[in-house]
Amino acid sequence: MDDPAGKSEPRRAKNPVRLERSGGIATIVIDNPPVNALGTAVRQGIFVALDLAEADESTKAILIAANGRTFPAGADITEFDQPAQPPELGKLCDRIEACSKPVLAALHGTVLGGGLEVAMSAHYRIAAPSTKLGLPEVKLGILPGAGGTQRTPRLVGIEHAYGLIQSGTPISASRALSIGLIDAVDEDPRGAARALAESGMDVRRTQDNRSKLSNAHEDMVLLQELRAGLDQMPGPQPATARIIDCVEGALLLPFEIGCARERDAFAECVASRDSQALRHLFLSTRKAAKFPELQGATANTPEQVAIVGGGLMGAGIALACLRAGIATTVVEDGEAGVTAALDRIGAALQRSIAKGTLSEDAGAHALTQLNLTSRITDISTADIVVETVSEDLNAKRVVLEQIGRHAKDGAVIATNSSYLDPAALAEATGRPNHFVNIHFFAPAQIMPLVEIGVAPDTHPTAVATTHALAKKLRKTPVRSAATPGLIVNRILMRLRLVADAMLEDGATPKQIDQAMRGFGFPLGPYEVLDRSGLDISYTARQRQPRDASQRYVDIGDIMVNRGWLGRKAGRGYYIYDEDRERPNTDLLAMLDELRAQRGIVPRRFKNQEIRDRIFLAIVNEAAVLLEQGVASRPSDIDVALVCGLAYPDKRGGPLHEADHDTLFAIAQRIEALEAEDTTLWRMAPLVKRLARERGKFSDLN
Ligand code: 3HC
Repeated sequence: MDDPAGKSEPRRAKNPVRLERSGGIATIVIDNPPVNALGTAVRQGIFVALDLAEADESTKAILIAANGRTFPAGADITEFDQPAQPPELGKLCDRIEACSKPVLAALHGTVLGGGLEVAMSAHYRIAAPSTKLGLPEVKLGILPGAGGTQRTPRLVGIEHAYGLIQSGTPISASRALSIGLIDAVDEDPRGAARALAESGMDVRRTQDNRSKLSNAHEDMVLLQELRAGLDQMPGPQPATARIIDCVEGALLLPFEIGCARERDAFAECVASRDSQALRHLFLSTRKAAKFPELQGATANTPEQVAIVGGGLMGAGIALACLRAGIATTVVEDGEAGVTAALDRIGAALQRSIAKGTLSEDAGAHALTQLNLTSRITDISTADIVVETVSEDLNAKRVVLEQIGRHAKDGAVIATNSSYLDPAALAEATGRPNHFVNIHFFAPAQIMPLVEIGVAPDTHPTAVATTHALAKKLRKTPVRSAATPGLIVNRILMRLRLVADAMLEDGATPKQIDQAMRGFGFPLGPYEVLDRSGLDISYTARQRQPRDASQRYVDIGDIMVNRGWLGRKAGRGYYIYDEDRERPNTDLLAMLDELRAQRGIVPRRFKNQEIRDRIFLAIVNEAAVLLEQGVASRPSDIDVALVCGLAYPDKRGGPLHEADHDTLFAIAQRIEALEAEDTTLWRMAPLVKRLARERGKFSDLN
């Protein structure tokens, strides 16, 4: 029943809803590609069709179904910031449920949010086996707003309903059947619904069903426990708290009053900062994936990938490929290298199986797709060859030259370089037009971002093929100009310089890490550096031409020279023994000594000050990248930082946040820092201009 072909169907705005009649069954067909979102025209269409079908005396039952890839995947997110047009989705759901004739929903694809709310308002629900059903509103910082918080508990009970709404994670059709969310699973849901309708059936309204709410005492205890744990829940606010209120309403209040509570909560959530940020990210992620090179370019489907270098990054990329069902060759040096890479990949697969994110069978199958070899010639059938050897220009150039000799004609040759100049690497391959800087983030099998560094002369097919690989790996691609560090590491370098300056001036790594955790990052910058290894950016820093008028902080360099490379060396900003992590007291002593030698009187930094400096460093550098054309739009930078650096998604990304603070305020804060230290701060002209014009970054999207 799924129609993958529907993916390529053009969008059609006209007649997104049709009414078909045959043998006493009226079928309301929704046809609004790509995902049948319940925009105004669709809601109006369903409303009118329902009136017509109900009024027709020959109608025995009404079927709601959708063409294309899915039953509606939700309300139309793009309409949330516009004045609501009638009929509201909640009103439509009430109208469906109130229908005097039986209404059946035939489900397929991803029945999400408002789509599931429509389905729950129907009197019967039949789904194709591959259907996924869920209420993902919380991921947009909202909650189901069309009766979903009231009808779901009536169908599946409080515990399951709360689980569905609070997690936002879709469930399978078989699971939905087992908990009572749907009535049947069938390969042909439309046919099965029609057969059921023809056999004669009664109207059955979800709002009248209280059978799943009969354990009121137990349910109240459960809700109280959940409420008590609210402080520990990281979800968006106020949605996370309001979900409990609304589900509780389903238990305690009459349906209409429960719905009124839900409506108020929904309005509050839509207007919240968290929701605006999460919706911005949803739409920006999709916008970021639209590379100009894709227009008219044909991607070679990446069936085979080769990775040269099976270290941490190489193994992570290999895992991501294997899990996506791609035949993967990993080339390593000699037997020892091959064995170490196999151990790394095998251990990571085992971890996924232990965590339950991968089945044993899928893990075993993944290994059959893996070819670990020490022969570089084995890359000759790959559609994309990714070089992941150590971050050293000469070492990479040697390997890329070999890849250039052995890769097949038309193959994409990619580097996963973090900081090196892509032009110098491209040249070594002998076919720079087919070269891209594809940049994954550790752990590559988990982190969603893939930056794709594109040079002016990169062939569009190479870009399209790399993009296709990112999509196949279910990653989020973001385009960057092919310049050293691409987007994320350029910003990271700046962030680090500002953080290092605070270290030199009196802060400790732990204090900075804690302050940034308080900002919402899962790890502080020094915890991240210890995990990725201090040596990665070291070479790039040494190679970079230095502007003598600008501040340079050499703490990281001294640490590398002492062998304090981070976790892998057992010592970096922290000391690691037996999985315990404690501050590196030698480093603290070294910092005291350096300050004394350099005549720096240590000062205290408040947490808020640390956060503000790091935030401003990110925003200012992002503005520089926009001016230089490294990033195409501000929203791409937001997506890149959330998906690559784990910038807190509830903040929507630094530039969304800067717009909220106003560029005028941002410029004033940077100006104050400039006055304090001109060798560290220099306001980006774009920030200055936007502040002067009262403009926003979003104007440039
Ligand atoms: N509204 C508007 N557009 C939507 C949309 C929605 N709910 N869901 C998806 N789209 C658009 C995307 O923006 C994208 O547009 P583009 O072609 O211009 O880039 C297109 O549909 C395809 O989306 P994806 O690229 O994400 O396609 P995938 O196949 O990877 O994923 C999906 C499909 C699983 C449906 C995914 O798009 C998704 O998760 N969508 C959001 C679902 C959701 O959150 N629903 C709840 C909405 S809120 C709601 O219903 C409130 C109600 O309770 C009142």
